[in-house]
Amino acid sequence: MKPKPDFQHPIHEFLQKRWSPRSFSDKPIKHEYLLSLFEAARWAASAMNEQPWRFIYADKSDKDKYNKLFNCLVDANKLWAGTAPVLVISFIKTHFEKNNEKNKWAMHDLGLAIGNLTIQASSLGLYVHNMAGFSIEIVKKEFDIPDGLEPITMIAIGYLGNPDLLSEKLKEREIAIQQRKPLNELFIN
Ligand SMILES: Cc1cc2nc3c(=O)[nH]c(=O)nc-3n(C[C@H](O)[C@H](O)[C@H](O)COP(=O)(O)O)c2cc1C
Repeated sequence: MKPKPDFQHPIHEFLQKRWSPRSFSDKPIKHEYLLSLFEAARWAASAMNEQPWRFIYADKSDKDKYNKLFNCLVDANKLWAGTAPVLVISFIKTHFEKNNEKNKWAMHDLGLAIGNLTIQASSLGLYVHNMAGFSIEIVKKEFDIPDGLEPITMIAIGYLGNPDLLSEKLKEREIAIQQRKPLNELFIN
């Protein structure tokens, strides 16, 4: 059982519950739940309402697509992410549709969208693990990516699994308490 960290101030239970697991159960995610996750992402705020987030996703019932996604991960993430029933690649659209200028807030807005998706997941008993460890080259080889999109993260989504099935080293991290800087370190002036 993951120990609960000490929250310095009260926060919503869906935020309290959130952490990034590496052990997922093989329970599939209902398609309507999956659509609710992306619907939550859709309703994030964005600069100029550009909505610069895009996604590729697959669940394990679509074996070929899931395997293509899995193939994009670095080895360290392949050690555990294959237990997740759903894998996602997130993208930003790098330039504004209106004037083709560079959208310097695109990453920010993708982060807001993933934040929405994550909290929606938490409300449904699901967990999300973001990953920077993947190959952009393999993403471009495996999928037909429209011009102007840049892959940013991959994401594993699912229900909590059994940490005993992980290697000793990963299990240790899995059951460790979450660490954060104290709140007062966040304020710079
Ligand atoms: C953008 C981003 C990239 C990450 N990349 C990886 C990754 O490649 N592999 C991994 O195991 N965890 C990855 N993580 C998970 C972080 O290590 C994790 O969120 C952090 O240690 C805090 O732990 P918590 O989410 O359980 O609170 C990533 C998280 C984010 C937000």
